[in-house]
Amino acid sequence: MRTLTTDPTPGAGLPRSEAHGLAGTAAPHESNWLHVRGQARYIDDLPEPTGLLHAAVGHSTQAHARIRAMDLSAVRAAPGVIDVITVADVPGHTDIGPVFPGDALLAGELVEHVGQPLFAVAATSHGAARRAARLAQVTYEPLEPTLTAEAALERQSFVRPTHVQLRGDPDGVLAGAPCRLQAEMRVGGQEHFYLESQVCLAEPMEDEGVFIHTSSQHPTEVQKLVAEVLALPFHSVQVEVRRMGGGFGGKETQAAPLACIAALLARRTGRAVKYRLSRPDDMIQTGKRHDFYNTYDIGFDGDGLLLGADIMVAGRCGYSADLSEAVVDRAMFHADNAYCLGDARVVGHRCKTHTVSNTAFRGFGGPQGMMIIERAMDDIARHLGLDPLDVRKRNLYRPGRDITHYGQHIDQHVLPDLIDALEASADYRQRRAEIAAFNRQSPVLKRGLALTPVKFGISFTAIHLNQAGALIHIYTDGSIHLNHGGTEMGQGLYTKIAQVVATVFRIDLSRIKVSATRTDKVPNTSPTAASSGSDLNGMAALDACEKIKRRLIQFAAERYGVDPDAVTFADNRVQVGADSVGWVELIQEAYLARVSLSDTGFYSTPKIHYDRDTGQGRPFLYFSHGAACSEVVIDTLTGEYKVMRVDILHDVGDSLNPAIDIGQIEGGFIQGMGWLTSEELVYDAAGRLLTNGPATYKIPAVSDTPPDFRVALWRNSPNREATVFRSKAVGEPPLMLGMSVWSALRDAVASLADYRYSPPLDTPATPERVLAAVMDTLDWADRNPATGNMADDPIDGTTGQSTGEQFGARP
Ligand code: MTE
Ligand code: MOS
Repeated sequence: MRTLTTDPTPGAGLPRSEAHGLAGTAAPHESNWLHVRGQARYIDDLPEPTGLLHAAVGHSTQAHARIRAMDLSAVRAAPGVIDVITVADVPGHTDIGPVFPGDALLAGELVEHVGQPLFAVAATSHGAARRAARLAQVTYEPLEPTLTAEAALERQSFVRPTHVQLRGDPDGVLAGAPCRLQAEMRVGGQEHFYLESQVCLAEPMEDEGVFIHTSSQHPTEVQKLVAEVLALPFHSVQVEVRRMGGGFGGKETQAAPLACIAALLARRTGRAVKYRLSRPDDMIQTGKRHDFYNTYDIGFDGDGLLLGADIMVAGRCGYSADLSEAVVDRAMFHADNAYCLGDARVVGHRCKTHTVSNTAFRGFGGPQGMMIIERAMDDIARHLGLDPLDVRKRNLYRPGRDITHYGQHIDQHVLPDLIDALEASADYRQRRAEIAAFNRQSPVLKRGLALTPVKFGISFTAIHLNQAGALIHIYTDGSIHLNHGGTEMGQGLYTKIAQVVATVFRIDLSRIKVSATRTDKVPNTSPTAASSGSDLNGMAALDACEKIKRRLIQFAAERYGVDPDAVTFADNRVQVGADSVGWVELIQEAYLARVSLSDTGFYSTPKIHYDRDTGQGRPFLYFSHGAACSEVVIDTLTGEYKVMRVDILHDVGDSLNPAIDIGQIEGGFIQGMGWLTSEELVYDAAGRLLTNGPATYKIPAVSDTPPDFRVALWRNSPNREATVFRSKAVGEPPLMLGMSVWSALRDAVASLADYRYSPPLDTPATPERVLAAVMDTLDWADRNPATGNMADDPIDGTTGQSTGEQFGARP
């Protein structure tokens, strides 16, 4: 059975109206009818300009090497080849690092990862370009590669300086704590696996400029980098993004190199150039989620309350900085997840390795940081013989324990109530008892249960990015053209912003059309990222609408001779004193009276600041929350497992669109579950990615959806901050709900030692790793036989005898 709770009732603070599709209603995604008919145009679906050329690059086969010679004569001579370029042919910048320098557009003398582009080809077909690119003769002088975060730590090799957040006296507290534990953990990376691989189409314009269609979350950055590479003013580059077939952070910076190469080839040849990556090339050449090596040293009391923590998070950044400074910052900001650490030190390292430069991925380092403290919660529980849920609840931020390790005061405490509600609706206690009973009598299959929270900070941690613009035109038939700086990647942003506009004017959503994101409509935009798309662009659109609305009110009041307060908008009409005027009628009257029906809007997030020198501040405007309760069953002979049931309660403030939000929660959870279970990136000793296609890299399939999946929104919890209609960001936080599956797997394994041992379980927790944890737990149980003391068996209160039978059942 699959239960879906899509309740379209608007949240408490949202307007009710007879106009259709206002904020708070479950309006369908603006393109759903195009998606299902296959008519939604992605870049590879656009009509091809005449004379179109196709680009491909030749890439490094070495992780770390000096290029001694590169003979491209066979490439140039290959059929269909029109142009071949190396770094020497770039007229402007050759470094396209998005924040810090270090990303070579095309390699010079040095290569620093397998897959690094060396030269680019333009040919008359996609196949001809790719075949030609393989014909290069490259002579390398191999250098020693650093491949893992641990190896980089040993060599103190970093892409950015190490950063520390310190609060209180963790060393003193740890030395004096009644209980103390230490552990390390490896958290795997993740391939974005957007369905639409990276792609762009560059067209030369009549002057020196270019027009770029790109599948990018950050059109403004594409504009800037293309202009810099071509040595053009920014105004000569126009960038358009109608939609992406998924981005997930993988198109925040990683789309730009393609656009730069296509633009270069387009300018040189005078012909349009399309550049699309095949799936293996996309997986080899573009950055992924950072894998992390984390450690903790924690002190706590006999009730499991954290007193102090010393945490280290070390991300494998790859060969360049890309966004890694901020990604590791976010891992540090979330090393507490939902728990007050007490006196704490959090150290973040940005490890330089000779692998592809890792980048943004849904959660942006936050998930990797949270994993270490979630591991600690389970470990404390096993150490003290407590239920992990009780330890988690005890450590939640609450009044009195409400300052984070980076100095932010937590003032909206959603989780204590939300977790209580989920604990009840998911029947946590009763199922816990049933599962313990099942595990006692089941020799091979073991069930596990876990309930884990998420608290995710909303705002870009690079403060200047927290701004947005919007552009609104009302035409004389009353229809509205809306444009804003955010991009659509399937998350429903365009729909939500249109709902905001409909709500301001109280008109049907069908009157509003959101047009493709373009750098020549709204300039200097931030990436659509950090889950902030609707917060930022929603407020900018609101600002633009309010300006026009004020003019309409002023005009109507004067024309009808009433007080401006007597002009109100409702149900596709405008009430002007005693008169009710139709929306279209009012717009036409305003036009004839020469009232401007177009405006721009702007927003910048208030209240946020962070001082990197002290590691203290208020980097987030607010937090989004959620919790998930997952039940799994594992086969202790093979390590295979299944997720049986998942219950989720998630806080989106007053939802802008409950259907879209539920979709984000379901999708985020599944993507997070995939990250922590089946998605494994395997590199060989030479730094080559072995899992470079769907046959070897396992993303969750439809059949991996939990057979019993109950997702609900946490109601009546408007955002305390003045966000757009008191909504909260939803894009990334649900990904981290997947942690409950990982914790449930550990719980199932821990049953083999009567929950007295906390088996290490690095991620992804593939069947191999689960099996290793099973063996490890059985070893531990052999060395530490149960005493038979009931106090040692906190979960089910029975004697330790049953464990002997379980172990006896093993071959
Ligand atoms: N949902 C879909 N369907 N496709 C995506 O690519 N990206 C996620 C999330 N949800 C993504 C998605 C990521 S990484 C972010 S940051 C947010 O959407 C961005 O959009 P928002 O700010 O409008 O929520
Ligand atoms: Mo999302 S990782 O912030 O694009």
